[in-house]
Amino acid sequence: RILILGGTTEARQLAGKLARRDDFSVTLSLAGRTESPVAQGVPVRVGGFGGAEGLAAYLRGEHICLLIDATHPYAARISANAAAAAKQVGMPILALRRPGWEPVAGDRWT
Ligand SMILES: NC(=O)c1ccc[n+]([C@@H]2O[C@H](COP(=O)([O-])OP(=O)(O)OC[C@H]3O[C@@H](n4cnc5c(N)ncnc54)[C@H](OP(=O)(O)O)[C@@H]3O)[C@@H](O)[C@H]2O)c1
Repeated sequence: RILILGGTTEARQLAGKLARRDDFSVTLSLAGRTESPVAQGVPVRVGGFGGAEGLAAYLRGEHICLLIDATHPYAARISANAAAAAKQVGMPILALRRPGWEPVAGDRWT
């Protein structure tokens, strides 16, 4: 049982790929900021968990085995909560991180 913290294209794409596996049960979590989010390809739950404690309780209650943080780089609070909750329940966590921009020849940085 996998919980993906989403709200990004990468999370939706990952969920779509994992959904093809019969041996995985995947749920994707959205904060609820978007009124009509696009289909995510897997069951979705919506809304905050109530901080790291609430997320830890959710992970335990839903018997999640793996947490994947695929949230936006600017969404710092949920990522910190995810790390803390995973540590609290002793669960593996995988965090997708976008590579930072590196200067290359021809750039016009402002
Ligand atoms: N910030 C951006 O620029 C940006 C851009 C594109 C997409 N997004 C997406 O929009 C969502 C909210 O962004 P934010 O910047 O407001 O995040 P944030 O400041 O890190 O999170 C604020 C609170 O929103 C809840 N939350 C955030 N993401 C959640 C998720 N995937 N599932 C359930 N609850 C979630 C959590 O509430 P509780 O503490 O109650 O659990 C969290 O503490 C994120 O999922 C992110 O991936 C953000």
